[in-house]
Amino acid sequence: MSTVEQPKIADYHRHLLVCTGPRCTADGESQALFDSLGAAFKVAGLDQGELRVKRSRVSCFAACRGGPIFCVQPDGIWYYNVTPANLQRIINEHLVGGRPVDELIFHRGPATQP
Ligand code: FES
Repeated sequence: MSTVEQPKIADYHRHLLVCTGPRCTADGESQALFDSLGAAFKVAGLDQGELRVKRSRVSCFAACRGGPIFCVQPDGIWYYNVTPANLQRIINEHLVGGRPVDELIFHRGPATQP
């Protein structure tokens, strides 16, 4: 009989993945952005409810330039150059408004292919 405890996570609408690896962004800039998400999501109403966004750090997406790099799933949208101002646009326009910020996208994954 297994004694391994089954993990649990709360329901979410989108999953925001943030690369905090050392090659795409220097000086901990991505980690600082990641650390700001809790408060920013609370202000935008993304910390709970039907639009709740789960956030996670990854160590490398194998893109490694033009960071900070963020990925929004299941939309399959990949963002680069996520400055604090650009992050606010992504939160307002995409995560709340449902409209990806076209000029910050460098790749679209399978979820958005025709
Ligand atoms: S270190 Fe960020 S994509 Fe590779």
